[in-house]
Amino acid sequence: MNKTVQRACQLQGSFKHLTQRHFRSYSTKPLTVLGIETSCDDTTAAVVTSDRKILSEIVRTQHHLHEPLGGIVPTLASTGHMQNLPMVVREALEQANKSINDIDCVAVTRGPGLPPCLSAGMNAAKTLAAVAGKPIVGVHHMEAHALTARLTTENAMGDHLPAPAFPFMTLLVSGGHTLLLQANAVGNYDQLGSTMDDAIGEAIDKASRALGLKWAQGRRGGPGVALEQAALKGDPMRYDSMLPLPLSEREWTKKIGFSFSGLKTAMMRMVERQNITNNEQGVADAAATFQSKCIQHLEQKLRLALDQSIKQQNIPLTALVVSGGVASNNVLRSRLEVLAASYGLPLICPPPKLCTDNGVMIAWAGIERYQAGLIDDYEITTIPKWPIESLKDVVAK
Ligand code: KG4
Ligand code: ZN
Repeated sequence: MNKTVQRACQLQGSFKHLTQRHFRSYSTKPLTVLGIETSCDDTTAAVVTSDRKILSEIVRTQHHLHEPLGGIVPTLASTGHMQNLPMVVREALEQANKSINDIDCVAVTRGPGLPPCLSAGMNAAKTLAAVAGKPIVGVHHMEAHALTARLTTENAMGDHLPAPAFPFMTLLVSGGHTLLLQANAVGNYDQLGSTMDDAIGEAIDKASRALGLKWAQGRRGGPGVALEQAALKGDPMRYDSMLPLPLSEREWTKKIGFSFSGLKTAMMRMVERQNITNNEQGVADAAATFQSKCIQHLEQKLRLALDQSIKQQNIPLTALVVSGGVASNNVLRSRLEVLAASYGLPLICPPPKLCTDNGVMIAWAGIERYQAGLIDDYEITTIPKWPIESLKDVVAK
């Protein structure tokens, strides 16, 4: 048994009793980590090193299974993961030119996500790690989205920026979440705001479906990309008065929180009443107006949060990080870059292919957690509903 595994095994017994002091940089040795992500419909695995090299990334999408059904069906997605996982993991190792013996740790999404999908990935990761005698790290999916910005950083122009140091403001916009966090350290996040109803990606997907848009094809396709493509030829002011800005009433303008369900419902009603789907330009204009309103709502709440953290609390934020599937939207990226600059902050978005769910972000979060001594034991289970602030409890014990 090598020293890393020995130490990991010791930690598995005593981990829960360690104090925060012990977590200081548990490992500074170079690491090669296998990451597995199956929280939704994509089966993905990747091998990443602690010196920020992505050695492989394998993705199997299941769009062809779910598009005809109008959305993700969890049991179908889970069966897809079970079919895909053996070859996806094998290909990730082969593409990286590594065997499982060269891997220092297996990282896997523990939650939040669809329960049967998380279980498929967790069972594969645990079995692999236990048989090969490797430590396992369970990763919070949203922490992984946030930390990806520290692996690879890019602004709206595609320039590479230095990795952001803590603390930074992070907006996570995906199909399941709309979260505004202050990232203080690995495993330490303050939640400043979240959605009260639909996640932004969920609302975008429903709007895309209401417009009758065909899912964009390719490795990173889906309804959100289809809406962005349709909006390219549209006028974002055409339906301005029919789509009200959420939470812009007087009492709400000073609260940090998001809501997309009213906007979504207004969009669906408008599409039906105006018979928009019969008119190509109408579809483009409606897509552009809806997209613009979603971004305007994010901008309004981001300004409140940045005013609070920077101007009122003097928190030395280093960057605005935006991640999650919706952060691959180019209009959103360029508008938030302007907003961040007005606070003297760089906007950091992972490259689009690392904004949507991927194994790379899980491997990287696994590296950051491993280095902080946050290693799990083989009895680890999934947590389908998992508030990100509760990660602090583990660090602080
Ligand atoms: O992070 P992600 O890949 O999966 C979740 O954890 O939910 O995010 C998926 C969401 C979907 O709602 C998808 O339609 C949306 O991100 N999305 C986009 C774009 N690409 C993906 N929304 C708007 N514009 C895009 N380019
Ligand atoms: Zn995600």
